[in-house]
Amino acid sequence: MAEWQKSDWRAKPRVQMPEYTDEAALKAVEAKLASYPPLVFAGEARRLKAQLGAASRGEAFLLQGGDCAESFEQFSADGIRDTFKVMLQMAMVLTYGAKVPVVKVGRMAGQFAKPRSAPTETLDGIELPSYRGDIINDLAFTPESRIPDPSKMLQAYTQAAATLNLLRAFSTGGYADVHQVHSWTLGFTEGEKAAKYRDLANRISDTLDFMKAAGVTSDRLHSLQTVDFYTSHESLLLEYEEALTRMDSTSGKWLAGSGHMIWIGDRTRQPDGAHVEFARGVQNPVGLKCGPTTTAEDLKVLMEKLNPENEAGRLTLIARFGAGSVGDHLPRLIKAVQEEGANVLWTCDPMHGNTIKSATGYKTRPFDSVLREVREFFGVHKAEGTIPGGVHFEMTGQDVTECTGGVRAVTEEDLSARYHTACDPRLNASQSLELAFLVAEELSNRDQVATAAAV
Ligand code: PEP
Ligand code: CO
Repeated sequence: MAEWQKSDWRAKPRVQMPEYTDEAALKAVEAKLASYPPLVFAGEARRLKAQLGAASRGEAFLLQGGDCAESFEQFSADGIRDTFKVMLQMAMVLTYGAKVPVVKVGRMAGQFAKPRSAPTETLDGIELPSYRGDIINDLAFTPESRIPDPSKMLQAYTQAAATLNLLRAFSTGGYADVHQVHSWTLGFTEGEKAAKYRDLANRISDTLDFMKAAGVTSDRLHSLQTVDFYTSHESLLLEYEEALTRMDSTSGKWLAGSGHMIWIGDRTRQPDGAHVEFARGVQNPVGLKCGPTTTAEDLKVLMEKLNPENEAGRLTLIARFGAGSVGDHLPRLIKAVQEEGANVLWTCDPMHGNTIKSATGYKTRPFDSVLREVREFFGVHKAEGTIPGGVHFEMTGQDVTECTGGVRAVTEEDLSARYHTACDPRLNASQSLELAFLVAEELSNRDQVATAAAV
């Protein structure tokens, strides 16, 4: 690995990246970013890697979630706080179900670049280049907005830094106190339709009461007051990634300083392509989306390239097949992993294979399909005797109407009311928490299986 250089990706075929027309402006932005501090530090990335390694062995569980695309326009402290808060609520419910620590990773502080299924969009007979995320161009449907502008990388860096600053403050400032999170989750279980979740909520409540009575309180036990919260994003815009890559003097290894964990998307995972070339050289935990078109042969090559030392926690395989298709694809990929004896963490993204167009013209995802894919993922792992180690959601703490269904049902007619996403539809706060309760149920079954296997 000593010979790897952070610019090596430039010699490889690239897809889904913008063609900047002003070369001088691009170079100036890259130079500026390269002179700025990294956003994350190597020790943090190594700690996350160790925790993901634990998740790959069933000793922890990964919760990864956040926006499909972070937006410059919707950037606000409340938005960050609400997503952080819902993730902590979900984590508390999942911890109870899994009986192991939940590793919390936001799709935050860097999730600005988007791969698109088509290079152009047509509206009322006008065809323009597709929107590619706020770090590249603008959502507004005008020819000027869609021109890639390198200076947007500087704004993305600034927003990521401010987001991380707030997340670090929330994580340690008492906001993440376990007793406070608990009072938030109780709100969700009120009302007739949420009755089915009340039993689990009451058990969590009893456990916390017992801990308190036994003297296990946040002022005595610092870890109940603070939380580890990490950031992640798709490593798509490689000029930005390269400029923030730094040599870590402690280990002598490269670190992508743009976020704790980076992942490679379903459209950019070509084994000989630029995105794999970049990710293979940095020491961060790396995610790899696996979709219906991922072949066993490609997966084997990718595992060797991305994790040649077979390190636990280095590689997370994010399965995104779509409800009804998990059984067609996951077993053959699990087999490929087993044939290689590869250490991987398997997680489930039940969002990207379940996007449909509503009758009213909105891109949406039915809550039931999302849930069904999660259940199929757990089912296949149970049948194969392997470990379902995490979930990956597009979600927000805001009360949006982007995905249909859930106990506080969003209908197709409701979608237009609060449809705010810059890209794919997200679960709202209530749908996210409901899903956490349902995944917790699956996890308590996983626990029984593990116990049965141990007996
Ligand atoms: C995403 O995670 O937003 C995404 C585009 O996913 P995928 O690469 O799996 O389609
Ligand atoms: Co998405």
